[in-house]
Amino acid sequence: MNLSFSQPPRLEWTTGDLSGGPLLRKSTCIQDLTGIFSDERARQLLAGERIVYEVEMLNTSPAEGELYTGITHLYPGRVGHEYFMTRGHFHAHREQGEVYFGLRGAGLLLLQNEQGEVRLEKVFTGSVHVIAGYTAHRLINTGDEVLSALAVWPTLAGHDYHALAKGFNVRVFEENQQPLARTVQNG
Ligand code: F6R
Ligand code: MN
Repeated sequence: MNLSFSQPPRLEWTTGDLSGGPLLRKSTCIQDLTGIFSDERARQLLAGERIVYEVEMLNTSPAEGELYTGITHLYPGRVGHEYFMTRGHFHAHREQGEVYFGLRGAGLLLLQNEQGEVRLEKVFTGSVHVIAGYTAHRLINTGDEVLSALAVWPTLAGHDYHALAKGFNVRVFEENQQPLARTVQNG
């Protein structure tokens, strides 16, 4: 039997660029992030259409048991002193985990469990982050280049952006040109 070799999609590890497959793309801009940063006035002073992050996903089957694969490109920048970050979420199906892999840039992965306990993991080229179920997650770009990370998660997981609408219990600010994590009162 003669089997042909098919060409899978390709990820350029150094840039996080995905190609060779049907892709879905979503951009999230400053104007989409009302109430996410601590200094809402500073957010309003930035151009609303400025992109904070982009997600590129392989357009694969959403059926139960399958996996999604996506790249997040989080741009460098700050709202006031707070670094650009993703909205962050729990999975709607809380027990579902996820794995992130740092591709380029420098940042932090903020993890918060249902008890409100927080951990911060450094994100760098080659970092591997096993996000357990019942754990909300948010990427933060503390560097001055794009932070790109690969994520693989179950299609079943879904997203719950409401549970943490008041914010995570820690925020990360630039102080003296260094990232500083501060505990906050419920966001
Ligand atoms: C999927 C996942 C990532 C994020 C992406 C954008 O479960 O964790 O692909 O969706 O980093 O962040 P959010 O979804 O919080 O806007
Ligand atoms: Mn997730």
